[in-house]
Amino acid sequence: MNKKYYITTPIYYPSANFHIGHCYTTIIADSLARYKRLDGYEVLFQTGTDEHGEKIENKAKEAGITPKMYVDEVVSNAIDLWKSLNISYDKFIRTTDKLHEQTVSKIFTKLYEQDDIYKGEYKGLYCTPCESFWTPSQAKDNLCPDCGRELKEVSEEAYFLRLSKYQDRLLEYINSHPDFIEPISRKNEMINNFIKPGLEDLCVSRTSFKWGIPVSFDQNHVIYVWIDALSNYITSLGYLTNNDEEFQKFWPADLHLVGKEIVRFHTIIWPIILMALDLPLPHQVFGHGWLIVNGKKLSKSLGNYKDPREYINKYGVDAIRYFCLREVPFGNDGNFSEESLILRTNADLANVLGNLVNRTIGMAEKYFDGIITNTKVKEDIDEKLIDLAISTKQKVDKNMSELHIADALDNIFEIFRQSNKYIDETTPWALAKDPEKNDRLATVIYNLIESIRFGTVLLQAFLPETSAKIFAQINTDACSFNTLDKFGYYKENTKLGKKEVLFARIEEE
Ligand code: MSP
Repeated sequence: MNKKYYITTPIYYPSANFHIGHCYTTIIADSLARYKRLDGYEVLFQTGTDEHGEKIENKAKEAGITPKMYVDEVVSNAIDLWKSLNISYDKFIRTTDKLHEQTVSKIFTKLYEQDDIYKGEYKGLYCTPCESFWTPSQAKDNLCPDCGRELKEVSEEAYFLRLSKYQDRLLEYINSHPDFIEPISRKNEMINNFIKPGLEDLCVSRTSFKWGIPVSFDQNHVIYVWIDALSNYITSLGYLTNNDEEFQKFWPADLHLVGKEIVRFHTIIWPIILMALDLPLPHQVFGHGWLIVNGKKLSKSLGNYKDPREYINKYGVDAIRYFCLREVPFGNDGNFSEESLILRTNADLANVLGNLVNRTIGMAEKYFDGIITNTKVKEDIDEKLIDLAISTKQKVDKNMSELHIADALDNIFEIFRQSNKYIDETTPWALAKDPEKNDRLATVIYNLIESIRFGTVLLQAFLPETSAKIFAQINTDACSFNTLDKFGYYKENTKLGKKEVLFARIEEE
């Protein structure tokens, strides 16, 4: 089995105003990366920042500083946000990194020399905030189909990438690789709205501003930011350099995780660049939906913006992670509100998980001074719990491989729900009244601790902070996926760690 896994998020436009929607892609990618690492894969999880283009040049101008000063300042905001969300990326690429700039320049020159890029004149419509070109037929009322803002007419000498040449090959590839674009609705949209009506060659250079990677053989031009940005997935691996072992090892990527509005770039322009470079295509591009508020995308200008760190400080990082992973079936749009965040946190994290750990440790302390023994006084009722614990990894594996993240979490929470039920059914408080049932009581407590351990081993990919706290409270180092094949890895005679409330119920203000 090939045990490598290369997963990417988009590289973000550096901003001082990241919102919870921006965190969405990255939290999901992080959980997938963590899950694969635990499952024995060598993982490369890459994110970064997309720092060139007219939009950034304008923002720097407004601030009265150079574009480089501007991006240096805001990139630290992304790094800080990912740190506060426990994002375990392996590489953080900036498109202003020298190596990236050099390789993009080489890619552009190579495509020009082999006549996949040619010089012409661009006349048409451009959306500066989205950095995207549109044809009049695509843009109704002169408005950007993606963001609704007014388009600018531009006319300039420019270089073009021959998308049209690769149109049939792309369509054939998409049709013969059913998993390449997911979910299927996005695949159909790409085929029917963009590829089948005919791909026009894409303008890939600009002369009206300077903040970009210059075309090496024609310095008046800077390379179109999407060519620059998409290339990040291979420039970071040393493509076209002497030091390309990572490229050899990790390319093609296993998964590009992207928001639905940029599926077009990742499933049309990017594959065509790769085909022109004679490189294999990524295994999958998954276009997820947006977190929205009352039907609208989150943004500072719409007034529904809050810095995600405010939520993290108020509710804890794992409440935010859990909401993003669990609330919305992956692929669809989902509504975000503080009320639904509170409901989710209370229902699952406080009432199910927090309550289970709290009750179990409380009983272990009360009845056995916090020392866990396995007296093995079994009853039939134990089998259900044990079977569930052992069979869960397989279900989670399947859901994770299909990117059904919310379902994978639900599988894990089934262990916690079942454990709570097991407490109600075995009634430890009644067993505690009868000294002859002391050994059975010890077994019940052992089974509960071992079930908590089973669930937490899986949960650590999603909620790393909470899982570390649970492992500390139950005082175990049996945390690897290798300890999920049988019930009983939890060591006998372990003294529990210090009890701590994981999630207190949040009362709505
Ligand atoms: N720079 C480009 C990507 C280049 S990749 C070669 C870009 N950047 S972005 O900062 O605008 O968006 C980064 C990611 O955040 C995208 O996947 C986008 O879909 C996602 N989100 C931004 N707002 C979002 C929501 N409200 N909800 C979910 N994801 C959203 O695009």
